[in-house]
Amino acid sequence: MIERVNHIGIAVASLDDQVRFYRDTLGLTYLGTEEVSDQKVRVATFRVGEVTIELLEPTEPESPVARFIAKNGEGLHHISYHVDDLEAQIAHVVAKGVDMIDPIPRPGAHGTRIAFMHPRSSGRVLTELTEG
Ligand code: CO
Repeated sequence: MIERVNHIGIAVASLDDQVRFYRDTLGLTYLGTEEVSDQKVRVATFRVGEVTIELLEPTEPESPVARFIAKNGEGLHHISYHVDDLEAQIAHVVAKGVDMIDPIPRPGAHGTRIAFMHPRSSGRVLTELTEG
């Protein structure tokens, strides 16, 4: 069951420039930056209420986020919903006809497990499920 947004992912070419905006201009709480090698990104995380904002900087030209920026430019990349049981939620949406990019969960930031739906199944909004 989905009861809250976990985080919003924003694709950026350079973390340094945008960290200043979110931390110093907006005044959000900066929680730190980590590399998620599985997704070939560095992730800077900010807390606002129950939601985190994740800035995603590609670490390789062929990473999915690099391809996203090449195609769409920087900006809103995905929305992620928190789930308690990722396998059960995947099975639920697949039964409703959703095509998963990740039918099998993979590692996300901060020790989470994640799975992306294909945007053609979610109104062209890249949609992620996060457990943990
Ligand atoms: Co995410």
